[in-house]
Parts: sequence; structure tokens; C-alpha cells
Amino acid sequence: MIEIVNVSKVFGRVRALDGVSFAVRNGEVVGYVGLNGAGKTTTIRIAVGVLPPDGGDVIIDGYSVVRDKKKASRIVGWVPELPIFEAEFKALDYFTYLAGYYGLPSYEARRLGVELLEKFGLGDAMNRKLSTFSQGMKKRFALAVSMINNPPNFIFDEVLNGLDPQGIAFFRDLAVGFRKQGKAVLFSSHILSEVEGIADRVVFIHKGRIIGVHSMEEVKHMARPALEITLTKLDENVLKLLERFGELSTMSGNRVLLRDPRADSSVVVAELVKSGVGVLEVRREEKSLEEFFFSLIKRAEGGEP
Ligand SMILES: Nc1ncnc2c1ncn2[C@@H]1O[C@H](COP(=O)(O)OP(=O)(O)OP(=O)(O)O)[C@@H](O)[C@H]1O
Ligand SMILES: [Mg+2]
Repeated sequence: MIEIVNVSKVFGRVRALDGVSFAVRNGEVVGYVGLNGAGKTTTIRIAVGVLPPDGGDVIIDGYSVVRDKKKASRIVGWVPELPIFEAEFKALDYFTYLAGYYGLPSYEARRLGVELLEKFGLGDAMNRKLSTFSQGMKKRFALAVSMINNPPNFIFDEVLNGLDPQGIAFFRDLAVGFRKQGKAVLFSSHILSEVEGIADRVVFIHKGRIIGVHSMEEVKHMARPALEITLTKLDENVLKLLERFGELSTMSGNRVLLRDPRADSSVVVAELVKSGVGVLEVRREEKSLEEFFFSLIKRAEGGEP
């Protein structure tokens, strides 16, 4: 379990993080979504213990990153935004070398290296120098390295960036496996639609502040098209009539929201009028996932002094 607790960070005059709090439970895959410069990488670097926070703490399975950095960082595997390796090493040799840090004897490290590199689609490349690896291959290699000690928590920074569709499908399967094993997984992205189909929950960050935390179900629900209808009256009969056209929820002031409308607004209006109900206004909302993300940002910006 990864708990980010009221974390703040300032770089000179930039308030990169301002009271950031959220948690990733065991068996949960959480997407961390924000625009460029929102604060994702800063949060992640603090969470894995490579950058100290100015305030707050990150608790990994009960261990404080601030007070117990060594223990906390041992139980979280991570892939940085731009993985840097010793380019002159061959992949398997370098993997073996890194595994040595975790106390694995070299034959065991090599065996694990062959297993993981094959699993990550690098079987044919394990004896090639890392300098010859493409961006996507480097990401795959970094993913394999993050799994050396089979940690119970994972944090991936922009791991989908640079992966081809096959690589993205591979990561999705990996996430499914982690979820089944009860691991806590946090991964960042600046594209919400990329996170769809992988994350169970999405944490939205904007200008160093958390502006929303929603289950993927909720996000998809809110992003669906809807008709907002304002009526002259609202009674049982009207509700019954409208329910035939989609998922209905009532709002204040004789307004209803019809999600996933099964008919054109003109058809719905005609039916209402036929049954003697006046229609004052009909608005169609069509939100894509990204529009939903932008609407969160707009709301947050509007709320700022
Ligand atoms: N080492 C640093 N020194 C000064 N400013 C920094 C440093 N690291 C980050 N920042 C600033 O902190 C803010 C958050 O940056 P961060 O890298 O966390 O964003 P991000 O969400 O990861 O963005 P991206 O999607 O572009 O990777 C930005 O304004 C950035 O310029
Ligand atoms: Mg970043």
C-alpha cells in the first residue's frame, strides 16, 4: 500500500506540490493523470525516496519514506520517466549487475534475468548493448529491472510513453497480474484515454494540487453523452416516460439528466410534449475522456482566488 500524505515541494519560486494526499491500496492499479508540469514526476520521486519532500510523508506498507527511507524504498519497484543505464553494458550483464544490489548470487541473478527479459520480449536482445536499444526496449528493460526483488508495490512514471500498441497491451496484462497478486500499482500519464482499460482508479493532479479522485467507472460514467432537460413539471408519469430513453437522474429545479440517450433529443421532446409536459430547455452534453479531464481542470482553475 502506498500512502501519500500531505506532501509539499517547492523548487525556488515554483510550488511543485501543495498538500498532495492519496493512497493506492493493495490489489489496486491507480492512474496518476496531469498535464505537463502538473507535479507527477515530483510526487513519484518523493514516493520512491530519491527526492526529499518539504512537508508531508509517503508511507509504503507502514514504512515512512522520510524516516525509514531504506526500508520503504526496498519494497517499491519503480521505473523513472527517463531510465538511464550504463549504455556500454549488455542487457543481461547489466541486469545481473543490478540484481547484485539486492543480494542475489550471480547465477541466480542471471537465471532471473533470462526469465524476465524473455517475459518482457527482450529474449533476442539480452546479449545486445543497451546503447542499441530503442526507447520502447529501454522501457521494457526498466520494467524488468523494477521487478528484480518482486516488490509488493510499483510506481511507474510515464511508462506507456514510447511503447508501441503491443507494448501497451503487454503493460495492461502486467497490471492485471499485479492486481491479482494484490500489489499496489501507481502509474502516471498525461493522457486519460491511455489510462482507460488499465487503471481501477484515477487521481488527477493540476498545478501541484489533487483536483479529483475517481474510479474508472465513475470517469467513464461522467464522460458519457447526456441530455439535460428542463421541464415545466416533474412527476411520476414524466419520470416513467423518460426512463424508456436512457439512464435517468433528477436534478434540482425540474431538471433531469438522461445518460446514454437511446433516441434523438427531438424524439424525446416530441414524446414529452405529446403527454402534455412543457420542455423549457434541452442541452446535449458530449464529453470525451479528455474533455472530462479538462472540465476538472477548468473547475479547479475557477475555484482559485
Ligand atoms: N529539479 C527541479 N528544479 C526546479 N523545478 C522543478 C524541478 N523538478 C520539477 N520542477 C518543476 O516542478 C513542476 C512539476 O514538475 P514535474 O516534473 O513533477 O511535472 P510532471 O507532471 O511530471 O510533468 P510531465 O508530464 O511534463 O512529466 C514544474 O513546474 C517543473 O518545472
Ligand atoms: Mg513527469
